[in-house]
Amino acid sequence: MSSATTGFKRILVTGAGGQLGRAFRRAFLNRSLLFPVFVDSQVFYSDVEGENPCNLSEPAAILSLLERIKPDLILNPGAYTAVDRAESEESLALAVNAEAPAVMARWARAHDAMMIHYSTDYVFDGSGVSPRKEDSPTGPLSIYGQTKLAGETAVLATGVQGAIFRSSWVYSDEGHNFIKTMLRLGAERDELRVVSDQTGVPTSAHFLARMTLHALNSANARDGKDDLNLMSQAAVYHLVPRGTLNWHQFAEEILGAARHAGKDIRATKVTAIATSEYPTPAKRPLNSRLDCSRFERTFGIKLDDWRVDFEKVMAAILSR
Ligand SMILES: NC(=O)c1ccc[n+]([C@@H]2O[C@H](COP(=O)([O-])OP(=O)(O)OC[C@H]3O[C@@H](n4cnc5c(N)ncnc54)[C@H](OP(=O)(O)O)[C@@H]3O)[C@@H](O)[C@H]2O)c1
Repeated sequence: MSSATTGFKRILVTGAGGQLGRAFRRAFLNRSLLFPVFVDSQVFYSDVEGENPCNLSEPAAILSLLERIKPDLILNPGAYTAVDRAESEESLALAVNAEAPAVMARWARAHDAMMIHYSTDYVFDGSGVSPRKEDSPTGPLSIYGQTKLAGETAVLATGVQGAIFRSSWVYSDEGHNFIKTMLRLGAERDELRVVSDQTGVPTSAHFLARMTLHALNSANARDGKDDLNLMSQAAVYHLVPRGTLNWHQFAEEILGAARHAGKDIRATKVTAIATSEYPTPAKRPLNSRLDCSRFERTFGIKLDDWRVDFEKVMAAILSR
């Protein structure tokens, strides 16, 4: 593993056109704010504007990209995230969400590189109301959840250095997400109907990128200085901001912020409905609460309240 004195030299970011991938691009662009272990890093993005193209459903393409770039750190936000479409595209979802990370993790293990992989609250069955810990029993309700769980298992089996960060309800000012949908529908319709019996917390892609870089810096800085040797073997960590709300409450927050900013919002009513009234091909967990105390304890940080990033992201969206 890289040491605190040398830092990471060559970083590969997959899925760099997605929400989290773009958040990493923005974080690495702002060199003055970067943690010490990244100041000398050369970052390679796949696949943005034709740069380092790689079809993540093709293991040979992934291996050839890795052999060409030879990263000492792989950040893998690349994923098949079309939750409903996955119900009818299982083999593609499995290739991207399970086989691709397995190929990367095996390569990383063999080349003494580190890997950070991402997973989801959808690995759980959503029963009960208590926040899930990392070792709580899994039970995905959807093909997407099954393929993400298979990805976790495959990465852990390699014994690669790094971590798997399970998050929930990811949004950003860039890319497609719930906020953008609510703003569009809120401008078009008089009434919105939004489910109120799925509970979790929205997570900004920028928060996820920032906390990933914090964790890597923290692990690197402490490497060799104590017995912990953080990230010497990948483990799962839950990583979401503080807070709990349901989709209906989130919709009210979004439309409230838009009205406050003077946007023309036509919807005067947001009706709370049950999941059973909004059938979708993939079943979603009702309880998506994640207990993040392992992340906070391990990496020595108190996670922000969800509103911190929400307000910044809304300001960015509403200023356009
Ligand atoms: N979004 C959420 O609500 C959520 C919640 C919990 C956890 N997560 C996890 O967090 C991570 C980041 O999510 P995100 O929201 O940033 O996802 P995203 O915006 O959907 O980005 C995923 C990226 O992967 C790329 N990709 C998909 N299939 C590919 C293929 N066959 N070859 C090459 N690239 C491919 C996508 O490219 P195209 O756009 O061109 O397909 C996209 O750039 C993922 O692991 C996801 O499972 C997400």
